[in-house]
Amino acid sequence: MTSTRPLRVPGIAYGGDYNPEQWPEEVWAEDMRLMREAGVTMVNVGIFSWALLEPSEGVHDFTRMDRILDLLHANGIAADLATPTAAPPAWFFRAHPEALPVDKDGRTLWYGSRQTFCPSSPAYRRAALRIADALAQRYADHPAVAMWHVHNEYGCHNAACYCDTSAAAFRSWLRARYAEDLDALNNAWGTTFWSQWYYDWDEILPPRATGAPPNPTQQLDWRRFCSDELLALCTAERDVLRQAAPRIPATTNFMVLRTFDALDYWRWAPELDIVSNDHYLMSDDPESDIDIALSGDLMRSLAGGPWFLMEHSTGAVNWQPVNRAKVPGEMRRNALAHVARGADGISFFQWRAAKAGAEQWHSAMLPHAGTDSRIWQDVVHLGADLKALAEVRGSTAAAQVAILWNWDARWALELPSQPSGELRFQDLVRDWYTPLWRAGVAVDFVRPDADLDRYRLVLAPSLYLVDDAGAANLAGFAERGGTLAVGFHSGAVDQNCHVRPGGYPGAFRDILGVRADELFPLLPSQTLQLAGQVPAGATATLWSERIQLTGAEPVASFADGPLVGAPAVTRHTPASGTAWYLATRPDPATLAALMDRICQEAGVQPVIDSSPDGLEAVRRSGTDADYLFLIDHAGTGAQVPATGVELLTGKPVNESVTVPAGGVAVVREPH
Ligand code: GAL
Repeated sequence: MTSTRPLRVPGIAYGGDYNPEQWPEEVWAEDMRLMREAGVTMVNVGIFSWALLEPSEGVHDFTRMDRILDLLHANGIAADLATPTAAPPAWFFRAHPEALPVDKDGRTLWYGSRQTFCPSSPAYRRAALRIADALAQRYADHPAVAMWHVHNEYGCHNAACYCDTSAAAFRSWLRARYAEDLDALNNAWGTTFWSQWYYDWDEILPPRATGAPPNPTQQLDWRRFCSDELLALCTAERDVLRQAAPRIPATTNFMVLRTFDALDYWRWAPELDIVSNDHYLMSDDPESDIDIALSGDLMRSLAGGPWFLMEHSTGAVNWQPVNRAKVPGEMRRNALAHVARGADGISFFQWRAAKAGAEQWHSAMLPHAGTDSRIWQDVVHLGADLKALAEVRGSTAAAQVAILWNWDARWALELPSQPSGELRFQDLVRDWYTPLWRAGVAVDFVRPDADLDRYRLVLAPSLYLVDDAGAANLAGFAERGGTLAVGFHSGAVDQNCHVRPGGYPGAFRDILGVRADELFPLLPSQTLQLAGQVPAGATATLWSERIQLTGAEPVASFADGPLVGAPAVTRHTPASGTAWYLATRPDPATLAALMDRICQEAGVQPVIDSSPDGLEAVRRSGTDADYLFLIDHAGTGAQVPATGVELLTGKPVNESVTVPAGGVAVVREPH
């Protein structure tokens, strides 16, 4: 949020999605009173209001929105005003049935839900820009409007449409990517394989359902196209809004989730004034605190500083097989953990729990039970906490460790027809992130072309696809004295998904001082023993490969299985740096021991010395002070050396601060 269009809401903004149109107006006055009681400072309005704002094509009715914005303003609450384009009305689809999306089997997906449009539909685009423009014209100068919320979660339900219109748009995108050179596309896609050579651009289709796997590069370019196609819609709306209201910042809410990978947010983030995220816990994730931290660090990295948490939940969601409620204290820890990782705004889906509609069983700030509820008490308490943390706004975290994160590499890794179908990018990254989180080591996420020299340690847990420049950037970092660690099956293919010949791990062989001649992925039931400089009883799963050392030293080797005696973990010291290779997936304790050694050798310091188990420690640095966030996940409480003022209680801290059991402390440490 180091934007030229800053958010003009003081402190840490607090609120949620507000859908008053779903309620009679008598309820609105109560909403205002309770929002003030909870310390709400900004709400997200109009997100799904298209059908009410434009009852028929080109006919607008702003009377309700006028009253809502006036009411908010009168109550001192700002509006993050959405373009309602994630939910086109029924009349639109009756007029433009061709704008409905089509899945890869050729089935039309119908309206009656949300995001039921084809991203390449010209009719949709016209209609979306028309309503965005009408809103912008009407409300550009409304004193309540503090931010534009463009659309909602682009690609959540319609990341890819396979209709003929999308096919034509894909071909246009390809013509630009390959500079009108069809042979270049044929070579990039390797279309001599299976007689796929194209003689005419019009022969090319999206990767629709086929009997055998489609061409991998076609699939990869398709993912790139789908992300760009939605981004084009987003920037088109943003431009319309900016034209009418040049000073109001624009955001759209991202989704960094294990289950959502449709958009290349490195390409999206620079297009926005404020980067925001929606984060939800997965009920089957026993360590969702790590997921919060990972997504928060990724958001801060995408934003290059503070960001905005647009949605999370006060309790259970309604879209998982079983929706776990949060335990007492969990919602507060979650919200403050996002702030610790750089969020300058905390918002929920949604303000008031719905009576009707597909989300009637989703938690909210004001639950069905009303104010006589634990959730409401927690919501009021959190409002006070965020008020006490106002001065944290704008501060950011500095890290000595960078982790490579790349959507191209993720998409390519998870294509079908890999040596193993068990490889999941976010899981592999989280494997390595977890011991760093436990050790309280601050982490940034970076792209392969990032400036790496400001880090001591660069980790590439999973970088299956990397272009030559990216590979050279990582190698150069190690040669200049940095420490690099690379995970298995990295560097395997170039940007066109072509295997790098000569042995694995392709692009990183030289810098790692190893060469594998054959891959031995492990069955889900297979566990191998490791021997060497690893804890007793060390094991490995998922992957192995037959490595020869071409300069590296062995750190651990396989003690059984088909590769008994072959290196499993290696360490190379090219020029003045160090380059580690993990040719398998060590068990968590072994990986933690390896990470500990790698960090120590690289001179990486944790945020605080010897953080007790289960205590998350994060530091945000501001102009005049640092802010040390301490979050107790163990339920035991902790005593941590610190000096300054604990902001949540306002109490001075002399030598140490007490973190209450299951609670949070935030210490202002003056510079
Ligand atoms: C988000 C979405 C919200 C709401 C929420 C429920 O994906 O943006 O509108 O549906 O999920 O968890």
